[in-house]
Amino acid sequence: MNDKKKLINSAKQSMKNAYAPYSKFRVGAALLTISGKIYTGCNIENASFGLTLCAERVALFKAVSGGAKSFKSIAIVATKNPVYPCGACRQALYEFAPGLKIFVLEKKRIEELALQELLPLGFHFI
Ligand code: THU
Repeated sequence: MNDKKKLINSAKQSMKNAYAPYSKFRVGAALLTISGKIYTGCNIENASFGLTLCAERVALFKAVSGGAKSFKSIAIVATKNPVYPCGACRQALYEFAPGLKIFVLEKKRIEELALQELLPLGFHFI
């Protein structure tokens, strides 16, 4: 199985763990490190809505806290597809992987994008 399919499948698995009682919108993400390890994440909502965490940042922060800092690609799946990462997640991902590839589900095919297309001129310290 190629990277894309493997990553989409991991994101689908993680989506099952989404905690989304308020929006009922489940999201799963799978982040692939340069060394080939996959970190997954799902959205985790809270009764205090602003505390909700997106699947992408859960995957990213799990990865970073696990010692990974270089990433190749991320796959994102949701209750309704395609779903593209929100602005906050784009910037969080940009911090570690400005050259990240993004895979989303577009009907039955996998659409491939670049973080650079979704977040041109992301913020970084010079
Ligand atoms: N959500 C994500 O997990 N990732 C995104 O890229 C967009 C939104 C979640 C947050 C919330 O739990 C639900 O989707 C609806 O906004």
